[in-house]
Amino acid sequence: MARRDGYYVQLDETAENMLRAGDFLGCGHNGIVYLLEDNKVIKIFKDKDICKNEYELLKKTEKSKYFPQVYSHGPYYIIKDYVPGERLDYYIRKNGINKKISCEIIKLLMEFKKLEFTKLDIRCKDLYINNNFSIKVIDPRNNYSRGGNYPRHLMKGLYKLGVLDEFLETVKEQYNEVYREWSFKIKRYLYRGVK
Ligand SMILES: Nc1ncnc2c1ncn2[C@@H]1O[C@H](COP(=O)(O)OP(=O)(O)O)[C@@H](O)[C@H]1O
Ligand SMILES: [Mg+2]
Repeated sequence: MARRDGYYVQLDETAENMLRAGDFLGCGHNGIVYLLEDNKVIKIFKDKDICKNEYELLKKTEKSKYFPQVYSHGPYYIIKDYVPGERLDYYIRKNGINKKISCEIIKLLMEFKKLEFTKLDIRCKDLYINNNFSIKVIDPRNNYSRGGNYPRHLMKGLYKLGVLDEFLETVKEQYNEVYREWSFKIKRYLYRGVK
């Protein structure tokens, strides 16, 4: 059994042994994550449907460099790559944004489109940035659910961090076909509350 913060799920023997050897990395609403050997992590879920969804999503994104590779899974756990780096929102709060980061975020959103995600959005807290400014999605979810066709949560996060205008400047330069729509919609949302 694995116990922590109310977690109590039945794991198979392989997962149980991995967990015993692992170091705690973090904990969210859905899961708890431990570092394993070979730069892998085990994420243990409270809910097996959420586990299945995340596993299926990671299978669909396995060719993408923006997502961790997934190796194996059980009803309540997934083994995937460790993602080094820092949470993007923490990083930006300390260091601000720059063109390279903005471009990387834009390329990630273009990748979502290529993967035929129906929700072209992600929260800054679910992105990790490493020391060469590359970005990875740490906690993918619901990207095939219905949702906005513009990155509202992402831009709201950048707004709160005080870097939205700087980000939009790069959008204008690098992804001009969405610039007008994104800047119009996010301003309408921020100032008038229209989703
Ligand atoms: N692949 C990973 N590499 C490094 N740290 C991770 C990884 N996955 C999760 N973590 C850490 O564990 C925390 C919780 O994981 P997360 O997948 O966000 O769980 P939840 O679905 O419950 O939000 C993350 O915020 C992060 O700190
Ligand atoms: Mg999370």
